[in-house]
Amino acid sequence: MTSEHQVLVSASILNADFSRLDRVVHKMERAGVDRLHLDVMDGHFVDNITFGPDVVAAFRRLTDMPLDVHLMISEPVRYMDRFIAAGPQTISFHVEIEEGDEQKTAAIEAIHAAGQGAGLAVSPDTPVSAVDPWLSELDVIMIMSVYPGWGGQGFIPEAAPKIAEARARLAGAGRGGLVHVDGGVNSKTAEIVGSYGIDVCIVGSALFQRGSDASDEVNLVKERALRGFEAATAGLAR
Ligand code: DX5
Ligand code: ZN
Repeated sequence: MTSEHQVLVSASILNADFSRLDRVVHKMERAGVDRLHLDVMDGHFVDNITFGPDVVAAFRRLTDMPLDVHLMISEPVRYMDRFIAAGPQTISFHVEIEEGDEQKTAAIEAIHAAGQGAGLAVSPDTPVSAVDPWLSELDVIMIMSVYPGWGGQGFIPEAAPKIAEARARLAGAGRGGLVHVDGGVNSKTAEIVGSYGIDVCIVGSALFQRGSDASDEVNLVKERALRGFEAATAGLAR
């Protein structure tokens, strides 16, 4: 039985060779990824620093692939105009930031005013219900299956059921938003996230393993996530 459900792969380039971004982008295009996932860290919201809007703009110049910005910064509103101007398709920030609800609403409205998609990321210890005040405005709910801050961490299986919760919420909101899962996702963990109905698998370090073919990994992630979904829909999985 084949389902209409589609699973996309968004490549997180956090563990890529930053000295050759053009090669990284072309390698991901050849590997058949659907989107690029750009991890922005400020050394405050998380204990790591990556890059800012100028690097997002550099990726914009390098590829036509959809870009998903994942903001792990404490003050997204302060920098939002610059990230919007860099031209990604979606911008997601963490629901756990200390800024007030009005600030979060303002950030989402600014993203939409520019015609881009807005999302909220949910860390492992945060319930999915934390995004409820903004549900009708969300194009993305990003379920973190690792604690944000580093690539190459182990997948947290307890985070997987939150995918189904997010999916049910977005279905109810009727805006056609998608659920992304981020952290430790690869060909070994794809089937479980697939069984909870994931839309977008964010895959990082698994695509940058020396000597391995990234396109094999992309195909396996899609195949196994769909297998998990079909088994779950047939009431066979989990
Ligand atoms: C972690 C980042 C992830 C990470 C994914 O904070 O948000 O996007 O780069 O990489 P892997 O797949 O290696 O966990
Ligand atoms: Zn990320």
